[in-house]
Amino acid sequence: MKEIRTRAVLSSWLAKERAKGKRIGFVPTMGALHAGHMSLAARARAENDIYVCSVFVNPKQFNNPADLAAYPRTLESDLEKLARAGCDAVFCPDVLEMYPDEAVKRYDFGHLDKVMEGKFRPGHFNGVAVVVDKLFEMVKPDRAYFGRKDFQQLRIVREMAALEGHETEIVSCPTEREDDGLAMSSRNVRLTEGQRKAAPRIFKGLMKAREMFSSYSLEEIKENVVAFINRSPELQVEYFDIVCENTLLPAVSPDSQGELVACIAVYAGEVRLIDNLSLNS
Ligand code: PAF
Repeated sequence: MKEIRTRAVLSSWLAKERAKGKRIGFVPTMGALHAGHMSLAARARAENDIYVCSVFVNPKQFNNPADLAAYPRTLESDLEKLARAGCDAVFCPDVLEMYPDEAVKRYDFGHLDKVMEGKFRPGHFNGVAVVVDKLFEMVKPDRAYFGRKDFQQLRIVREMAALEGHETEIVSCPTEREDDGLAMSSRNVRLTEGQRKAAPRIFKGLMKAREMFSSYSLEEIKENVVAFINRSPELQVEYFDIVCENTLLPAVSPDSQGELVACIAVYAGEVRLIDNLSLNS
């Protein structure tokens, strides 16, 4: 497995592979890899001739400096895991390599980045879009793999790719969960024992929303789920919204058109966890 730190080396190696007719898969990550990432890697491996992963903790997508400082960094073990998973190359640039100058694009995503994560983490999605655009420019992947756990991110990445004219196919991969239902996340390692025990309540709350879906109003579902999760002293819901999959507009009634997705962010102490579940598919 190649470990590549500069865009020049990455581009020249990929140009040679492309010239041989190789199809390129890409898995962008911020490291601290867990089984969720590895399932994206396995899919990228199965569906492409070669695949590249990036490991880069992107400072532009953190609106909270403490969150950036606390983000787990485990490059050595990440590299081992990727080598074992048959990854062809890992791109792990430093901040200067990714952001050689201060100018940062501003995207207009309309409503898509004003709600949910966008509302509570201003600037977050612009930072995600900027880095994914740069990575797509460098890798020019045929396919790129994103976890459905970051549901709103997936929607924003699709929008950015359309705005920028990237031809990459964006592949959405199912959320990987621990046995007790907790969505896998690099942040889970920061949970205390008590918080970790309480955290599966988030997914239980989402399942409750799905059970209630056909017989209760959306308002009743929201009230019930938020109260259920907040009943644990370890957890505090930041938002719980039910939105239409494509527009991210709030669902008006259970009869709203298309797929409806319940999206949630919960604080366990300082650790912010997100999850989502489709209610009608
Ligand atoms: O989902 C992530 O880990 C990040 O937001 C991504 C897509 C790698 C961009 O930094």
